Amino acid sequence: MIAFDNGTKSLLLSGKNYSYCMYINCAGLLQHLYWGKKIGAADAAFLVTAHGLPASPNPDDYNKDMATDGMPSECGSFGRGDFRPATVIVRREDGAAMSRFRYVSHKIVKGALHLQGMPCARKADETLILTLKDDFSDIELDLNYSVSEDSDVLVRSAVMRNAGKDAAEIAKAFSFCTELPDTRGTWSALRLAGSWARERTPVVTPLAEGTLRIESARGYSSHQMNPFLAVLSEDCGEESGECYGFNLLYSGSFAITADVSHNKSIRVQGGINDFLFGWQLQGGETFATPQAALCYSAEGLGGMSRAYHDFFREYIIDPKRVYARRPVVINNWEATYFDFDNEKLCSIIDEAAKLGMDTFVLDDGWFGKRDGDTSGLGDWFVNEEKLKGGLKAVIGHCKEKGLKFGLWFEPEMVSEDSELYRAHPDWAIGKAGVEPCRGRNQLVLDFTRKEVVDYIFETVSKILRENEISYVKWDKNRDITENYTANLPADRQGEFWHRYTLGFYGLAERLTKAFPNVFFEGCAGGGGRFDGGALYYFPQIWTSDDTDGLERTKIQWGTSVCYPVSAMSCHVSACPNHQTGRTTPFATRGAIASLGATGYELDLTKLSEEEKAQVREQIENYKLIDELVLRGDLYRLADPFDGNYFCEMLVSKDKSKAYLVGERFRGDPCDHDRVMKLFGLNESKTYTIRELNVTASGAALMGAGLFCPRLPDCGSWVWHIEEV
Ligand code: DGJ
Repeated sequence: MIAFDNGTKSLLLSGKNYSYCMYINCAGLLQHLYWGKKIGAADAAFLVTAHGLPASPNPDDYNKDMATDGMPSECGSFGRGDFRPATVIVRREDGAAMSRFRYVSHKIVKGALHLQGMPCARKADETLILTLKDDFSDIELDLNYSVSEDSDVLVRSAVMRNAGKDAAEIAKAFSFCTELPDTRGTWSALRLAGSWARERTPVVTPLAEGTLRIESARGYSSHQMNPFLAVLSEDCGEESGECYGFNLLYSGSFAITADVSHNKSIRVQGGINDFLFGWQLQGGETFATPQAALCYSAEGLGGMSRAYHDFFREYIIDPKRVYARRPVVINNWEATYFDFDNEKLCSIIDEAAKLGMDTFVLDDGWFGKRDGDTSGLGDWFVNEEKLKGGLKAVIGHCKEKGLKFGLWFEPEMVSEDSELYRAHPDWAIGKAGVEPCRGRNQLVLDFTRKEVVDYIFETVSKILRENEISYVKWDKNRDITENYTANLPADRQGEFWHRYTLGFYGLAERLTKAFPNVFFEGCAGGGGRFDGGALYYFPQIWTSDDTDGLERTKIQWGTSVCYPVSAMSCHVSACPNHQTGRTTPFATRGAIASLGATGYELDLTKLSEEEKAQVREQIENYKLIDELVLRGDLYRLADPFDGNYFCEMLVSKDKSKAYLVGERFRGDPCDHDRVMKLFGLNESKTYTIRELNVTASGAALMGAGLFCPRLPDCGSWVWHIEEV
């Protein structure tokens, strides 16, 4: 619900459990008032009088004494007395860069906003479009706010329009700005940081005066920093206390900042990375920022996570795919790497069929001249020397055995040793005369160029058209360097990063539209592009190259802070684990992988009969719980970063069914009495736990809990919980 009160000039936006309030002060500046638990329309007037300070009744005062420096704002200005980080900065043709935006008009429209060429929330009940105008240039700015009755997520974005004749440069264009006023306690910020094979580790640091900035300058969202920040109140825990989430629905270089100012308010804002950013707007042109998904929770981090999970499932991921049963995949990467032939693949397919798997995914190495990572990328035609009879032979074998077929691509990349590079060396990103940096021996294609994206669309489409392919794994294995395109003049190089991201989105949009029956899985050297933008095209993303039965608990835990478990591809791999060298029980690897879109990634022909029996059992188990993976509410019970246990639980929305997976990292004799209290059940319902042959009320299971089994190193347990 969005309500405007003409008397107080206040705007009150409410979703499922929250309200967000602002008002247009006498100087036409958009002043933030409140974001928290749901309040009524009448409260907006109270907020204006009680919290509209230091607003002055005299418009002239806004130019005096730097009055805006302490004002909670919805759009931070630049060069006009507000010295905190600005939200939007415009540089005029004469070089002057000052920006302060004032209210012009607003409208409330039904439904969501669709931003051309970018992923965005697929629906909303209502959208508020607030139009502001810069005091110093001809730039008009729409601040957009979408709300829905059934969601705790507020979707924001900004659109800039050059209403004049002179060109202007948008020197900074963040998607949102908000302020958490009067935070005099000890507040902290949580970010999801990491690296390859250690994606999305939650890191919590106190906030203090000054600016905390998280960012990616790698050309994509990155392993190192997810485009997400949460600001936590002093009492915020896993299931209690207040927190605020800020998630950019964006896969490119980004920045989110949290600035604690002199008056202890926290200005949080974010969007496209403003470092060396610049976007030229000629008269009449517009520029849209990516959307941001803001979430308030009064139920701690767990409440915020569940709100985001619902949001991604209901508003972002393709509705045709999101709740559809996911195939149990067998992927050959860790089984063969580049070293395979028909015989090897067929032997894996035969076993997969016997064990009840659904789809065989042929990973890297099937195309061009690709027997290692130094060649072949860009040549998207089958290597018939390696695969006799081409893809058709492998696909035919899959069909014979009742399996579907999936294929790996890395569409954005090129190897110097490839036919594509030899024909079009200028299609790779770089500056002529500068030796390029190489990542994994490869270069990045210049996706700011339409002809490059068109070519890749055609070659990938040809393979998808000519073969029966039901699944595509879309990989990306390096960062972007040299950040330069010959496609743009010198004064527009600041557009490069965002234009690259638009090229990626353009290709994803075209391929997913052209092949609606193909399931697209995202990947970026593991989970390097696991973000809300990518989820719009890829209902599921490879979470990490680290499939170790212990490390994965941490990676999946961290990923779940924002993203639903159904979006995480989770595979059982061989031991000793190829990344860590650790050996964990087969059952544990299966149990952890069942907390996501499960699959296998190992040479099935090398499994013992006992392990094969376990695979059959794991797949049977998965069929019993995959509805919970797709639709359930997640409760995180034991934090793997903090102690000897990992434990998570999925509960059906009607609270009639739950599934719990736990792991004990060390078989520590002094740690034998750990009680796990369950969460999310209905206190007055009675439940059974199949594996324990126990019957108890939800109140007892949540209040008293259950002893965890005494297990040796990396032992795991699963409990199926059902209402009687
Ligand atoms: C990185 C991915 O994360 C792996 O799963 C695999 O597809 C390799 N790339 C192939 O090169």
